[in-house]
Amino acid sequence: MRFKIAVVAVLVTLVVVLALALAARPKVEQVTARVTISEDGAALYAVYCASCHGAQGRGDGKAVPYLRLAVPDLTGIADRAGKFDSEAVLQKIIGEDRPAYHEMPGWGTVFASAYATPERERVALNNLVRHLEAMQAAR
Ligand code: HEC
Repeated sequence: MRFKIAVVAVLVTLVVVLALALAARPKVEQVTARVTISEDGAALYAVYCASCHGAQGRGDGKAVPYLRLAVPDLTGIADRAGKFDSEAVLQKIIGEDRPAYHEMPGWGTVFASAYATPERERVALNNLVRHLEAMQAAR
């Protein structure tokens, strides 16, 4: 009798744990990948960056629950580094400067293949960096 109660208790616990685990798992939302060859910094940001960094750059995009690394708040770059260093930010975006374990794609190859000429690619990346600079929290 005791044994039966113990078995039932274990089974009930397993079912509850499983139910909680399933409920806690974020629902995967399928979205169509968007691409743009715009040179507009805000438009580029909306298409390529907002999914993780959030529409306003605060690190609260829809993909955050699926990532292991914390997604940085891009409005605080200047605060954290003491100033907004455009070249350093560009290196992070294109993937030349990133942690060994990273979850952000290196955007260098994406941009290099998207634009017809290196000049247009540079303009696009430059405008994207300007957009991030404009996002910096007022100090
Ligand atoms: C898949 C999610 C994801 C996307 C999409 C993404 N990022 Fe990131 N980003 C991260 C994560 C996570 C980090 C932290 C370091 C890493 O994983 O490389 C990061 C780091 C950064 C950093 C460094 C911030 C700091 O303070 O050191 C910058 C700048 C940045 N991202 C800009 C961008 C821009 C611009 C885009 C769009 C072109 C973009 N990110 C798209 C996830 C993402």
